[in-house]
Amino acid sequence: MSIGIIHPGAMGSSLGAALSAGGHTPHWASDGRSQATRTRAAGDGLVDVGTLRALTNTCDIIISVCPPAEAVNVAESVAALSFTGMYLDANAVSPATARTIAGRVESAGATFVDGGIIGPPARHAGLTVLYLSGEAARCNAIASRFEGSPLATHLVGAEPGAASAVKMAFAAWTKGTSALLLAVRALAEAEGVTEGLDHAWSVLTPELIDRFPATVRGTAPKAWRFAGEMREIASTFDHAGLPGGFHEAAAEIYEALSDLRDYPDATEADVIQRLTEPGP
Ligand SMILES: NC(=O)c1ccc[n+]([C@@H]2O[C@H](COP(=O)([O-])OP(=O)(O)OC[C@H]3O[C@@H](n4cnc5c(N)ncnc54)[C@H](OP(=O)(O)O)[C@@H]3O)[C@@H](O)[C@H]2O)c1
Repeated sequence: MSIGIIHPGAMGSSLGAALSAGGHTPHWASDGRSQATRTRAAGDGLVDVGTLRALTNTCDIIISVCPPAEAVNVAESVAALSFTGMYLDANAVSPATARTIAGRVESAGATFVDGGIIGPPARHAGLTVLYLSGEAARCNAIASRFEGSPLATHLVGAEPGAASAVKMAFAAWTKGTSALLLAVRALAEAEGVTEGLDHAWSVLTPELIDRFPATVRGTAPKAWRFAGEMREIASTFDHAGLPGGFHEAAAEIYEALSDLRDYPDATEADVIQRLTEPGP
């Protein structure tokens, strides 16, 4: 079976590298993608077939790894090409969005598998897990391709949506608390009490002193993508009868930082300024 990756971003390209290392040939479609994605995909040994149409004709399995806010659009583009193979959505989306995607691709004749990836890009064993759910995940067609690679797989349920729910619950804490920390620091700045907050942190929660700059570095360049993920998490909480407001607010925090996309040198001052000054 040939496997296609839509698209080889930081995570998708690492999945391609993991497949290559296991003797499989990952494919992708460069049409419309940036030079950064082209360079990354070439470096990881993904074979460029040019267009999405060529990818759906070439591959039996397609893995969607894209900005979460685009996951439904990407699935619709694949369904529009009458793809009838196996479609894995591995994006950070809510269980409800995963089921919407299932409906789109299944109506075209594809088999849907729900997935969620937790951990950094899969370059080293033991850090990154692809959670899988749904009946189709049990046949092992996807998990077997990653055996022995840096990407571990773990089945979590028979229902599509379960793997996405694991991802939502995990990221609700990691990215949610990061957004809260940025907001807390911005509040202290707005009130002119940053020195006082630093003092209180040093006495009672010294771990936050290092965590704040690390959070700025880890979130600012990716904040544009995190906003969509926070909205998916908020909707997951709402559907479960829990307050979604925490993560709606986190989405606002990340949205305010969205122009720092791919700006690895963003400073603490850049972040605080965007959070404390009203937008245009
Ligand atoms: N990175 C991580 O550590 C990590 C960890 C766990 C899960 N994930 C999940 O993996 C997925 C992708 O993350 P990533 O880190 O690989 O993102 P990324 O590095 O930002 O890459 C995103 C890829 O999607 C493409 N893309 C951009 N805009 C698009 C659009 N409008 N429609 C379709 N594709 C578009 C990009 O192409 P261009 O270059 O042309 O813009 C790029 O190839 C997300 O669902 C994320 O939650 C990532």
